Amino acid sequence: MTQVLRLTQKQPVSPRITRFRFEHPEGRSLPVFSGGAHVMVTMRDGEVLRRNAYSLISDPQDSSGYEIAVQREDQGRGGSNFLHEKAQPGMMLQIGAPVNLFGLNLTARKHLMIAGGVGITPFLSQLHEVVRLHAPFELHLAIRSRNELPALAIPDAAQVHVSDEGSRMNLTEILSTQPLGTHLYVCGSARMIEGVLTEASALGWPKDALHSEEFLAPAPGVPFEVNCARSDKTLTVGAHQSLLEALEAAGIDTPWLCRGGACGQCETDILACDGEIEHHDHWLDPAEHCSKIMPCVSRFRGALLTIDR
Ligand code: FES
Repeated sequence: MTQVLRLTQKQPVSPRITRFRFEHPEGRSLPVFSGGAHVMVTMRDGEVLRRNAYSLISDPQDSSGYEIAVQREDQGRGGSNFLHEKAQPGMMLQIGAPVNLFGLNLTARKHLMIAGGVGITPFLSQLHEVVRLHAPFELHLAIRSRNELPALAIPDAAQVHVSDEGSRMNLTEILSTQPLGTHLYVCGSARMIEGVLTEASALGWPKDALHSEEFLAPAPGVPFEVNCARSDKTLTVGAHQSLLEALEAAGIDTPWLCRGGACGQCETDILACDGEIEHHDHWLDPAEHCSKIMPCVSRFRGALLTIDR
């Protein structure tokens, strides 16, 4: 379900991060959600249609509006720049229903949250939940410099690690001093997530207590052609377009949910490939890399790609 909502507030909260608030144009209540949920924001920028997922940072029980915080990505495909530069209060935007792929495990004895930079965003809605439930939590936020700390509702209890000030996170100590039954949640860059999860696994954390979210808009790349066998169409995927967006523009129905390589909905079979698939998802097993592609984030370089769409 997608709703057309009005942008009612736009407020810079750090040099690169801006907070946006959306409300129903007639003041109606919006569906409540659970902590860690995201919404898909559809942006029409001239001829280009972009859909980016952003974590909700507002109170999940507050149905009066949805809030997101967006970091400007100058090397990105333009979605964050569109919001920073072109979106103004009063503008109407399509906002998808909240979807949660990063929910809290409510049976956890304690919630250990580790965020890198703008990766703090999904925790802001989760924190409303843990406070409401009186659930024990520990939050660590790693940033490069003090001026990157966004003016958002980060609790006083959060431990902020500023690398420019030499206060780096001691991951081994943090991970090895948690009570049994703690669940770990990590959100940040792919490198940070991998580092935290690798360390946790090495220290014996059970796999089902580990949760991560890396919500990146698909990276731009070199344009490529793709042959869609079932639709009998050949498409050109532009440098700033994802394969999924090219399929949609051509009217080829492709399911999706996260548009960030995490949910598996857009999984597509490869029928022929003379070149190299650039896999950017967190879904496929390496053993599937020759036979499947996730069109929301992955690209192709080479002479021929034929997919089952
Ligand atoms: S839409 Fe979720 S993995 Fe592609």
